[in-house]
Amino acid sequence: MTDINSLLQARYGTGTSSTSNVVTNPSLETLLQHRSVRNFLPQSLAPGTLEVLIAAGQSAATSSNLQTWSVVTIQDPNRKAKAAALSANQEFIRQAPLFLVFCADLRRLTQVSQQQQTPGVALEYTEMFIMATVDATLAAQNVSVAAESLGLGICYVGGSRNQPRELAELLHLPHRTIALFGLAVGYPDPAKPAAVKPRLPLHEVLHQETWDDDIEKQKEHFTAYDNAIASFNAGEKREGIPAWTERSALRVAGVENLNGREIWNEVLHERGFDLK
Ligand SMILES: Cc1cc2nc3c(=O)[nH]c(=O)nc-3n(C[C@H](O)[C@H](O)[C@H](O)COP(=O)(O)O)c2cc1C
Repeated sequence: MTDINSLLQARYGTGTSSTSNVVTNPSLETLLQHRSVRNFLPQSLAPGTLEVLIAAGQSAATSSNLQTWSVVTIQDPNRKAKAAALSANQEFIRQAPLFLVFCADLRRLTQVSQQQQTPGVALEYTEMFIMATVDATLAAQNVSVAAESLGLGICYVGGSRNQPRELAELLHLPHRTIALFGLAVGYPDPAKPAAVKPRLPLHEVLHQETWDDDIEKQKEHFTAYDNAIASFNAGEKREGIPAWTERSALRVAGVENLNGREIWNEVLHERGFDLK
């Protein structure tokens, strides 16, 4: 088993300084060694794996046990190619044997309300969309960790939000459901291994008791992280990538960087998420 401090060192890259006495275990190892995989072998998942992954997803906590999410699996190569084309045309989606599309699902509770002859008015509020998004995301992360524990690799796909109307049509999504993101799953190609990408320094995200808004400390964190990411990119032989701060600022600089996702408020209303 890998020592916890080696795992933490890899997680923070050059930005880490603290040491831990926590004894590592397989769960921590899986979590701390996560990396997105974008190169897959053309090998199908072993029989029964899909069901275990979804059961792991369903094992996540869910608000009021309402389970306001669903997932559409795509294994058919033609449909997967179409889903890839609608998801920023990313090649690894075609390559992965399994593509999961996680959906916010308020349709189920609409049906339950109808059957119980109750008005279901709460379903018209933004809160319920947030609930469905949180539920779907927790489930997806459980699926991801379960997949990684089995030696599979995963990559989330926010690109699946670029053309929400077309993706809904492809997957026959009914009213009051919407695809939130995709998840490519498959066996990692050992010839093109993915590396652990460092995260921001722990104290940049950790606020103890109350929010620590020390801007000078934050600037130090940014510098440390820009350096950690620069070392990571150098190790990956990825040249000319701007620093994390520059890249992140550019990512949110203009609406064009939303890659079509600026229509989401409109699409949510169309699909029956009223967002009152
Ligand atoms: C919701 C979500 C959407 C993402 N969408 C994409 C995507 O469309 N394409 C992609 O290559 N990576 C995507 N990623 C992966 C992130 O780029 C990746 O998690 C991040 O760079 C950190 O790297 P790591 O996962 O290897 O630690 C997404 C991740 C999340 C959580």
